[in-house]
Amino acid sequence: LGKIGKTDDEPGLAVYDPGFTNTASTRSSVTFIDGDKGILEYRGYPIEQLAEKSTFLEVAYLLIHGELPTKEQHEQWVHEITFHTFVHENVKSLMQGFRYDAHPMGMLLSSVGALSTFYPEARNISDPQVRHEQVVRMIAKMPTLGAWSFRHAQGKPYVYPDNDLSYTENFLSMLFKMSEPKYDPDPRLAKALDVLLILHADHEQNCSTNAVRSVGSSQVDPYSAVSAGIAALYGPLHGGANEAVLKMLKRIGSKENIPAFIEGVKNGDEKLMGFGHRVYKNYDPRATIIKKACDDVFEVTGVNPLLEIAQELERIALEDEYFVKRKLYPNVDFYSGLIYEALQFPPEMFTVLFAIGRTPGWLAQWSELVDDKEQKIARPKQIYTGDRQLEFIPASERW
Ligand code: ACO
Repeated sequence: LGKIGKTDDEPGLAVYDPGFTNTASTRSSVTFIDGDKGILEYRGYPIEQLAEKSTFLEVAYLLIHGELPTKEQHEQWVHEITFHTFVHENVKSLMQGFRYDAHPMGMLLSSVGALSTFYPEARNISDPQVRHEQVVRMIAKMPTLGAWSFRHAQGKPYVYPDNDLSYTENFLSMLFKMSEPKYDPDPRLAKALDVLLILHADHEQNCSTNAVRSVGSSQVDPYSAVSAGIAALYGPLHGGANEAVLKMLKRIGSKENIPAFIEGVKNGDEKLMGFGHRVYKNYDPRATIIKKACDDVFEVTGVNPLLEIAQELERIALEDEYFVKRKLYPNVDFYSGLIYEALQFPPEMFTVLFAIGRTPGWLAQWSELVDDKEQKIARPKQIYTGDRQLEFIPASERW
């Protein structure tokens, strides 16, 4: 707490809270987390039940609308999303203009931002129908843009959506289709990917969601606000931990090397990546679900040899006092990289998958922000630490 005022004569009480770790920036009814108990709920529904019994598009509907759809509402929703999967040909040209080795996240964030110019009506955010159309478009087009970013770096032709397929099957088709006429995705892989998207769909006021809200509070169109969220996710502290886990497991190399590695962690040489969380001081509920999804994926792809090392590492760490005392448990990233690698994704794509999953959450939080009459433009206070009232000396006299 510090005394800072609007003017020198009028001091007021303000909170200095870097990173907003203990200051609520909004009220929200989208997602609930109890980090001590390891609970995550979307609109009140436990993540375990949603991952097991729902689909990503149904969860997206729940997040956006606040309640589960009726049969008719669900059919209409899936129909709308399916028929908005194509993007304007000029978006394709825009993407083709990137360097041959462009990072797919850079391509995704630029192309999502560019969509605002293709749908100028999106600026009219006070019209609920306009808002609904952009929500549908964005959820529908993210896999197309994500898959094309992936194909681009491989020098392969972009694959158009196949609207006879489900949301995740279509995504797999656009990623991996090699020949005509059709790509035939393994339903077990499509289901596992669907579960992964559900697990990433929202996580209350994380860095990227906060970015969407902060930029959205200027009443900009949702494409621009969501591209700010993608930019935040691009940062290694937010979206990059699963890649770091893979690198760590590869470096450990075999189960025999684990005890020495753990000793190094305890001595403070490095961190056990994929362990610990700012909010969860218990098992991250998403990690438990991902562990199960591993079995399904590896049944199709063959076991990733790093899985054995990961499981042994987890077993040893959870019995070690260092980790127990600090409440360090596996987080969502501990196993997700293993699955993505088994699905043939290069590490640069991991964050793109995260972004596709997080899109309904960003949009639900953005809609909530637009409807919230109490919400003001984001404009945090600062505590000024620089000089004051200096006398400016012109360059001709200074040099
Ligand atoms: N390995 C070893 N020790 C750890 C780890 C870890 N992964 N995480 C925390 N600790 C230790 C700290 O050194 C500290 O020890 P000390 O009390 O002796 O100084 C103690 O546990 C508390 O750690 P903090 O850094 O205060 O915890 P915080 O909540 O700030 O950090 C974070 C959370 C950043 C996730 C941290 O646990 C970490 O770096 N984990 C590894 C990276 C990772 O997996 N990130 C993904 C997070 S999930 C996501 O973003 C989707």
